[in-house]
Amino acid sequence: MRLTVVRGRVELAERAAERVAALLGACPESVLALPTGRTPIGMYRRLVALNRLGRVDLSRATLFNLDEYAGVPADHRGSFRAYMRRLLWAPCHLDPARTHVPRGDAADLAAECARYEAAIRACGGIDLAVLGIGANGHIGFNEPGSRFDSRTRVVDLDDSTRRANGRLFEGGLAPARALTMGIGTIIESRSILLLAAGADKAAAVRAALRGPLTEAVPASALQRHPDVEVLLDPAAASRVERDA
Ligand code: PGA
Repeated sequence: MRLTVVRGRVELAERAAERVAALLGACPESVLALPTGRTPIGMYRRLVALNRLGRVDLSRATLFNLDEYAGVPADHRGSFRAYMRRLLWAPCHLDPARTHVPRGDAADLAAECARYEAAIRACGGIDLAVLGIGANGHIGFNEPGSRFDSRTRVVDLDDSTRRANGRLFEGGLAPARALTMGIGTIIESRSILLLAAGADKAAAVRAALRGPLTEAVPASALQRHPDVEVLLDPAAASRVERDA
């Protein structure tokens, strides 16, 4: 695991975007898994800027988002599909056939999860998964207790996750259920880039990187992976550095 503590969120965004750009420069047809949330917003802005400068070509990449809320229409402003359209797909004019988010409004959610998993397999698997981490240690929406061999499935979200992600939803509370790539799906990616910023992530980052491998801390599954890069701002890194 390679750990880098950057100066702040601007450098985090730059480094993350550069990692993606380098991969696409070497292999424009790469398959990426991508996160939503506050942490990667700067990375997407930077990728759009690099795209406008002609320094990164996303047009031949295949993009799979990690997760989506269940029961939320695709055009709801709180949906992850809307987030991706706003921050990356529309500004980079990406082909909808190459951008994938689980359909949270599918009639049969279990079938949708199986279809998503099969679509990833059909593309040859994920080359690089870019991940955030929840304050409770989740990756994707794999909450504590998720099995390390879990696949794409419907999950119940913790109340803390619903509150942390509730800004664009009625009553400040995100939906109770979601579709997420499993931990097994994520750790089969050939490379992983984990991003974390802010003091509210410090305990989860420490538990994930330095604690025991345990399903109580979903991100600790990354310790098993041979190619993980971690980018942290100083606040997110504060407990790792002190305790290391
Ligand atoms: P955040 O979410 O980037 O909005 O903090 C990360 C996550 O919950 O995985």
